[in-house]
Amino acid sequence: MEALVNGVHLHYVQAGQGAPLILIHGYPLDHTLWRPQIGGLADLARVIALDLRGFGQSDAPDGACTMDTNADDLCALMDILQIERAALCGLSMGGYIALAFWRKYASRVRALILADTRAEADTPATRQARLDMVEQVKQHGSAPAAYAMLPRLLAESTRQLRPDLVESVRVMMLRQRPIGIIGAQLGMAERPDSTPTLLAINVPTLAIFGAEDVITPAETDGLALASAIPGTKLVVIPNAGHLSNLEQPEAFNAAVREFLLTLDG
Ligand code: MLT
Repeated sequence: MEALVNGVHLHYVQAGQGAPLILIHGYPLDHTLWRPQIGGLADLARVIALDLRGFGQSDAPDGACTMDTNADDLCALMDILQIERAALCGLSMGGYIALAFWRKYASRVRALILADTRAEADTPATRQARLDMVEQVKQHGSAPAAYAMLPRLLAESTRQLRPDLVESVRVMMLRQRPIGIIGAQLGMAERPDSTPTLLAINVPTLAIFGAEDVITPAETDGLALASAIPGTKLVVIPNAGHLSNLEQPEAFNAAVREFLLTLDG
Protein backbone atom coordinates (compact mmCIF):
# COMPACT_ATOMS: atom_id res chain seq x y z
CA MET A 1 0.00 0.00 0.00
CA GLU A 2 1.07 3.57 -0.51
CA ALA A 3 0.15 6.89 1.12
CA LEU A 4 1.13 10.44 0.20
CA VAL A 5 2.34 12.13 3.38
CA ASN A 6 4.09 15.50 3.59
CA GLY A 7 4.77 15.37 -0.16
CA VAL A 8 6.38 11.92 -0.02
CA HIS A 9 4.95 8.54 -1.02
CA LEU A 10 5.34 6.11 1.84
CA HIS A 11 4.99 2.39 1.38
CA TYR A 12 3.45 0.33 4.16
CA VAL A 13 1.83 -3.01 4.84
CA GLN A 14 -1.05 -3.83 7.15
CA ALA A 15 -2.31 -7.08 8.62
CA GLY A 16 -4.89 -8.05 11.20
CA GLN A 17 -7.49 -6.12 13.08
CA GLY A 18 -7.89 -4.54 16.47
CA ALA A 19 -5.86 -1.95 18.32
CA PRO A 20 -3.11 -0.58 16.05
CA LEU A 21 0.53 -1.57 16.50
CA ILE A 22 2.94 0.42 14.32
CA LEU A 23 6.38 -1.06 13.67
CA ILE A 24 9.25 1.33 12.93
CA HIS A 25 12.37 -0.20 11.41
CA GLY A 26 16.02 0.61 12.05
CA TYR A 27 18.88 1.74 9.82
CA PRO A 28 19.67 0.85 7.03
CA LEU A 29 16.71 -1.47 6.72
CA ASP A 30 13.08 -1.46 5.62
CA HIS A 31 9.70 -2.77 6.72
CA THR A 32 10.64 -6.36 5.87
CA LEU A 33 12.67 -6.35 9.09
CA TRP A 34 9.28 -6.90 10.72
CA ARG A 35 8.11 -9.88 8.68
CA PRO A 36 7.98 -12.19 11.73
CA GLN A 37 5.92 -9.65 13.65
CA ILE A 38 3.57 -8.83 10.77
CA GLY A 39 2.78 -12.53 10.48
CA GLY A 40 3.07 -13.37 14.15
CA LEU A 41 1.03 -10.64 15.81
CA ALA A 42 -1.78 -10.02 13.32
CA ASP A 43 -4.13 -12.23 15.31
CA LEU A 44 -3.82 -9.77 18.19
CA ALA A 45 -3.52 -6.31 16.63
CA ARG A 46 -3.85 -4.24 13.49
CA VAL A 47 -0.17 -4.39 12.60
CA ILE A 48 1.27 -1.68 10.35
CA ALA A 49 4.86 -1.66 9.15
CA LEU A 50 6.08 1.22 7.00
CA ASP A 51 9.13 1.96 4.94
CA LEU A 52 10.46 5.20 6.39
CA ARG A 53 11.19 7.91 3.83
CA GLY A 54 14.45 7.08 2.09
CA PHE A 55 14.08 3.32 2.63
CA GLY A 56 12.42 0.35 1.01
CA GLN A 57 9.79 1.35 -1.52
CA SER A 58 9.15 4.81 -0.08
CA ASP A 59 10.30 7.99 -1.80
CA ALA A 60 13.76 9.28 -0.93
CA PRO A 61 14.07 13.05 -0.91
CA ASP A 62 17.46 14.75 -0.69
CA GLY A 63 18.97 16.06 2.53
CA ALA A 64 19.02 15.16 6.21
CA CYS A 65 16.03 13.17 7.36
CA THR A 66 15.56 14.08 11.01
CA MET A 67 13.80 11.99 13.60
CA ASP A 68 11.20 14.78 13.80
CA THR A 69 10.55 14.51 10.05
CA ASN A 70 10.00 10.78 10.45
CA ALA A 71 7.68 11.46 13.40
CA ASP A 72 5.70 13.95 11.27
CA ASP A 73 5.43 11.33 8.51
CA LEU A 74 4.17 8.77 10.96
CA CYS A 75 1.58 11.12 12.40
CA ALA A 76 0.36 12.01 8.90
CA LEU A 77 0.15 8.32 8.02
CA MET A 78 -1.89 7.69 11.17
CA ASP A 79 -4.27 10.48 10.11
CA ILE A 80 -4.70 8.87 6.68
CA LEU A 81 -5.29 5.47 8.25
CA GLN A 82 -7.71 7.06 10.73
CA ILE A 83 -5.73 5.88 13.70
CA GLU A 84 -6.15 8.15 16.70
CA ARG A 85 -3.80 6.29 19.06
CA ALA A 86 -1.39 3.44 18.49
CA ALA A 87 1.17 1.33 20.23
CA LEU A 88 4.52 2.23 18.63
CA CYS A 89 7.30 -0.32 18.41
CA GLY A 90 10.63 1.07 17.23
CA LEU A 91 13.91 -0.78 16.84
CA SER A 92 17.15 1.20 17.08
CA MET A 93 16.66 4.21 14.77
CA GLY A 94 12.98 3.29 14.96
CA GLY A 95 13.26 3.82 18.73
CA TYR A 96 14.84 7.25 18.20
CA ILE A 97 11.83 8.05 16.02
CA ALA A 98 9.35 6.70 18.59
CA LEU A 99 10.89 9.00 21.23
CA ALA A 100 10.73 11.98 18.84
CA PHE A 101 7.11 11.06 18.12
CA TRP A 102 6.38 10.99 21.84
CA ARG A 103 7.81 14.50 22.23
CA LYS A 104 5.62 15.88 19.46
CA TYR A 105 2.49 13.77 19.56
CA ALA A 106 2.22 12.14 23.00
CA SER A 107 -1.57 12.10 22.90
CA ARG A 108 -1.42 9.76 19.87
CA VAL A 109 0.64 7.15 21.74
CA ARG A 110 -1.11 4.34 23.57
CA ALA A 111 2.02 2.42 24.49
CA LEU A 112 5.69 2.22 23.55
CA ILE A 113 7.91 -0.73 22.75
CA LEU A 114 11.55 0.31 22.55
CA ALA A 115 13.77 -2.38 21.09
CA ASP A 116 17.58 -2.32 20.90
CA THR A 117 17.75 1.45 21.06
CA ARG A 118 18.96 4.28 23.26
CA ALA A 119 17.89 7.72 24.42
CA GLU A 120 21.24 9.50 24.26
CA ALA A 121 22.35 11.68 21.38
CA ASP A 122 25.50 10.73 19.48
CA THR A 123 28.90 11.25 21.02
CA PRO A 124 31.20 13.51 18.96
CA ALA A 125 33.03 10.38 17.75
CA THR A 126 29.82 8.68 16.61
CA ARG A 127 28.70 11.85 14.86
CA GLN A 128 32.02 12.08 13.05
CA ALA A 129 31.79 8.40 12.05
CA ARG A 130 28.38 9.12 10.52
CA LEU A 131 29.77 12.03 8.52
CA ASP A 132 32.64 9.85 7.34
CA MET A 133 30.15 7.18 6.29
CA VAL A 134 28.14 9.77 4.36
CA GLU A 135 31.27 10.57 2.34
CA GLN A 136 31.92 6.88 1.70
CA VAL A 137 28.36 6.27 0.56
CA LYS A 138 28.51 9.31 -1.73
CA GLN A 139 31.59 7.82 -3.37
CA HIS A 140 30.89 4.09 -3.33
CA GLY A 141 27.14 3.62 -2.91
CA SER A 142 25.34 1.62 -0.22
CA ALA A 143 27.88 -1.19 0.18
CA PRO A 144 30.17 0.50 2.74
CA ALA A 145 27.18 1.21 4.99
CA ALA A 146 25.88 -2.35 4.70
CA TYR A 147 29.24 -3.98 5.34
CA ALA A 148 30.02 -1.68 8.26
CA MET A 149 26.80 -2.73 9.96
CA LEU A 150 26.60 -6.44 9.11
CA PRO A 151 29.19 -7.84 11.55
CA ARG A 152 27.74 -5.84 14.43
CA LEU A 153 24.05 -6.42 13.86
CA LEU A 154 23.67 -10.08 14.66
CA ALA A 155 24.57 -12.32 17.60
CA GLU A 156 27.54 -14.64 17.28
CA SER A 157 25.25 -17.68 17.23
CA THR A 158 23.11 -16.15 14.47
CA ARG A 159 26.21 -15.46 12.38
CA GLN A 160 27.55 -18.98 12.89
CA LEU A 161 24.40 -21.02 12.58
CA ARG A 162 21.98 -19.10 10.38
CA PRO A 163 23.54 -18.17 7.05
CA ASP A 164 20.10 -17.62 5.47
CA LEU A 165 19.23 -14.96 8.00
CA VAL A 166 22.64 -13.29 7.63
CA GLU A 167 22.17 -13.28 3.88
CA SER A 168 18.67 -11.79 4.03
CA VAL A 169 19.89 -8.96 6.28
CA ARG A 170 22.83 -8.34 3.94
CA VAL A 171 20.52 -8.17 0.93
CA MET A 172 18.07 -5.92 2.81
CA MET A 173 20.83 -3.42 3.54
CA LEU A 174 22.40 -3.55 0.10
CA ARG A 175 19.12 -2.73 -1.61
CA GLN A 176 18.72 0.55 0.32
CA ARG A 177 19.48 3.62 -1.76
CA PRO A 178 22.49 5.82 -0.98
CA ILE A 179 20.27 8.89 -0.76
CA GLY A 180 18.23 7.30 2.04
CA ILE A 181 21.28 6.08 3.92
CA ILE A 182 22.85 9.54 3.73
CA GLY A 183 19.64 11.24 4.85
CA ALA A 184 19.28 8.91 7.84
CA GLN A 185 22.90 9.28 8.92
CA LEU A 186 22.66 13.06 8.78
CA GLY A 187 19.33 12.97 10.60
CA MET A 188 20.59 10.67 13.35
CA ALA A 189 23.72 12.79 13.76
CA GLU A 190 21.64 15.80 14.66
CA ARG A 191 19.12 14.09 16.91
CA PRO A 192 18.81 15.58 20.39
CA ASP A 193 19.33 13.76 23.66
CA SER A 194 16.03 12.07 24.53
CA THR A 195 17.04 11.28 28.12
CA PRO A 196 14.92 14.12 29.57
CA THR A 197 12.00 12.80 27.51
CA LEU A 198 12.07 9.43 29.25
CA LEU A 199 10.99 10.76 32.64
CA ALA A 200 7.88 12.28 31.09
CA ILE A 201 6.68 9.06 29.45
CA ASN A 202 3.46 8.07 31.14
CA VAL A 203 2.13 5.36 28.85
CA PRO A 204 2.92 1.67 29.35
CA THR A 205 6.38 0.97 27.96
CA LEU A 206 8.28 -2.20 27.26
CA ALA A 207 12.02 -2.43 26.51
CA ILE A 208 13.27 -5.44 24.54
CA PHE A 209 16.96 -6.06 23.93
CA GLY A 210 19.04 -8.85 22.49
CA ALA A 211 21.42 -10.23 25.12
CA GLU A 212 24.26 -10.01 22.57
CA ASP A 213 23.44 -6.58 21.17
CA VAL A 214 26.81 -4.82 20.81
CA ILE A 215 25.37 -1.63 19.27
CA THR A 216 22.92 -0.86 22.06
CA PRO A 217 23.85 -3.28 24.86
CA ALA A 218 21.10 -4.45 27.19
CA GLU A 219 23.25 -4.01 30.27
CA THR A 220 23.85 -0.32 29.56
CA ASP A 221 21.31 1.13 27.12
CA GLY A 222 18.54 -1.32 28.00
CA LEU A 223 18.91 -0.79 31.71
CA ALA A 224 19.14 2.98 31.28
CA LEU A 225 15.89 3.10 29.33
CA ALA A 226 14.03 0.75 31.61
CA SER A 227 15.13 2.45 34.79
CA ALA A 228 14.38 5.97 33.54
CA ILE A 229 10.86 5.33 32.22
CA PRO A 230 8.52 4.75 35.13
CA GLY A 231 7.14 1.19 35.28
CA THR A 232 9.08 -0.15 32.30
CA LYS A 233 9.91 -3.83 32.10
CA LEU A 234 13.15 -4.88 30.41
CA VAL A 235 13.06 -8.14 28.49
CA VAL A 236 16.49 -9.45 27.46
CA ILE A 237 16.36 -12.10 24.75
CA PRO A 238 19.11 -14.74 24.73
CA ASN A 239 20.90 -15.64 21.49
CA ALA A 240 19.91 -12.36 19.88
CA GLY A 241 21.95 -9.34 18.85
CA HIS A 242 20.77 -5.91 17.68
CA LEU A 243 18.02 -7.34 15.46
CA SER A 244 16.34 -9.19 18.31
CA ASN A 245 12.94 -9.28 16.57
CA LEU A 246 14.40 -11.06 13.55
CA GLU A 247 16.87 -13.30 15.34
CA GLN A 248 14.48 -14.62 17.98
CA PRO A 249 11.00 -13.80 16.71
CA GLU A 250 9.18 -16.22 18.99
CA ALA A 251 10.65 -14.71 22.15
CA PHE A 252 10.21 -11.17 20.80
CA ASN A 253 6.60 -11.77 19.80
CA ALA A 254 5.82 -13.46 23.11
CA ALA A 255 7.09 -10.40 25.00
CA VAL A 256 5.08 -8.04 22.79
CA ARG A 257 1.99 -10.23 23.03
CA GLU A 258 2.13 -10.38 26.83
CA PHE A 259 2.63 -6.61 26.97
CA LEU A 260 -0.21 -5.77 24.57
CA LEU A 261 -2.57 -8.03 26.49
CA THR A 262 -1.97 -5.98 29.65
CA LEU A 263 -3.08 -2.75 27.95
CA ASP A 264 -6.58 -1.49 28.46
CA GLY A 265 -8.61 0.94 26.40
C1 MLT B 1 20.05 1.12 13.77
O1 MLT B 1 20.10 -0.10 13.89
O2 MLT B 1 19.00 1.72 13.47
C2 MLT B 1 21.33 1.89 13.96
O3 MLT B 1 22.26 1.10 14.65
C3 MLT B 1 21.10 3.17 14.68
C4 MLT B 1 22.33 4.00 14.75
O4 MLT B 1 23.15 4.02 13.80
O5 MLT B 1 22.49 4.71 15.76
